[in-house]
Amino acid sequence: MNLPSDARIQPPRFAPEPFGLFPLPPELRLALEAEVAGLTFEPVPEVPVYDSDYGHAVIGGISASSGVQPSIGHAPMSQALYERFYAVLTPMIEAWAGCELEPTWGYGIRSYGRGCVLHLHRDRIDTHVISCIVHVEDRSEVRWPLDFIDHDGRHHQVFFEPGTVLFYESLCPHGRLVPFQGEHYRNLYFHWRPRGWDSTPLRGMRCKYPSLETALAEWQVPAPALEEAELAPAWRDWLLTNLSRGCDPAALGARALAEGLDADAVARLLQAAPRGQALPGLSVQGLHEAPLTRTEHHPRAWRLDTPLAQVYEIPDLLSAQECEGLIHLIDSSLQPSTVTIGPGDYRTSRTCHLRDLDAPLIGVLETRLAALIGVDPTFSEPLQGQRYDRGQYFRAHTDWFEPGSREFIEHTALGGQRTWTVMVYLNQVGAGGQTRFLHLGRTFTPVPGMGLAWNNLHADGSPNPATLHESLPVEEGLKYVITKWFRALPGRNG
Ligand SMILES: [Fe+2]
Ligand SMILES: [Fe+2]
Repeated sequence: MNLPSDARIQPPRFAPEPFGLFPLPPELRLALEAEVAGLTFEPVPEVPVYDSDYGHAVIGGISASSGVQPSIGHAPMSQALYERFYAVLTPMIEAWAGCELEPTWGYGIRSYGRGCVLHLHRDRIDTHVISCIVHVEDRSEVRWPLDFIDHDGRHHQVFFEPGTVLFYESLCPHGRLVPFQGEHYRNLYFHWRPRGWDSTPLRGMRCKYPSLETALAEWQVPAPALEEAELAPAWRDWLLTNLSRGCDPAALGARALAEGLDADAVARLLQAAPRGQALPGLSVQGLHEAPLTRTEHHPRAWRLDTPLAQVYEIPDLLSAQECEGLIHLIDSSLQPSTVTIGPGDYRTSRTCHLRDLDAPLIGVLETRLAALIGVDPTFSEPLQGQRYDRGQYFRAHTDWFEPGSREFIEHTALGGQRTWTVMVYLNQVGAGGQTRFLHLGRTFTPVPGMGLAWNNLHADGSPNPATLHESLPVEEGLKYVITKWFRALPGRNG
């Protein structure tokens, strides 16, 4: 591991995974509901102060609004409820963390308002070592992720559901980096430290980060090289293919060991693969170095200046005539768009499956778009067209599927994980309809014929949360786009 000097100090590891969501025990849920019913949330009275570590004005040390007026409320909790929570949660979180814990701090309910962000930070090294966030309630317009960086420098986004608690190692950097959209979001916090805890070795550890990029720069870990696994290519492909189909890694590992394969090599491969490395037929490196990423590629794709994700703008990917032809095809066959998760109003555009229309233009485009990525069109989903009418949008989401989720198993059984997304704007929108990458600070305005391509995965093949994006509401006129999602495996397109 190659770390800069101030990043050499890292917290110890406790649980097998540094965070986990669990159901809130029913007795605590009922007690909390009873107490919340009688609470009023007062605005936090502090004046925002500029914090040079975050490069931002903050209130209460860590929270700040991206807007002009921070909106953070607070309600105290009764001593009885505080003690009840600690009594029930302590044995649970001790079992999770694998050590005896001493309660340190419990706060009342914090209520975030519109525009709030929680800057990326590590908690207090002396008292806030193992922590719990209780999701109380929220009125969100867009699901609000907790950003979390694990011990290996991997960025995760955690979405809370009502009635859940998060146990987490709070010396790992965490925050909520996307400004909150909604009326309020309310959480309750509890902290512990291991019995006999000595924070001395952690003194000097960097605890505040002005951006995700700054924090991730602390880890410059080379991608786990699949080549290191001393497995015959046929066995490696067999393992990766079956993992990508959602087969049980333990069962695959047992079969591989029974076949006499090297146990360490199998373990390394199985450990790496659930994070999205299952890409037989198309190497992880090949994806990362897709043809469109090369400067000699024609048409030239221009990379967005960020190390957090590969996002490319491709002017004049389609001609005006092609755009007009596609708009005509989309208008001729529209149906409401679907989403794989979330409420029905998450996406309000309408979709058209262009392949079904049997137009010669579609076949040509399938080939041309696949050539950008350097794969056969079978490694993609059929080309889709979307029309957004005035007021229609697609809320913040990522295109990849969360490994380990039910959604992942359902949607990747055929075709594997999503890899690149290529989207092409077909018309100029009167107003609105931009594509915004919330972590990258970049918003693209539709230009007819312009393509936008992004790699949904990291260089090591794991999903990249920094690709979170949204389509802003169309304010005037209509918006037409075509989209092609590429996949790690063939199977969804012909
Ligand atoms: Fe925290
Ligand atoms: Fe998307």
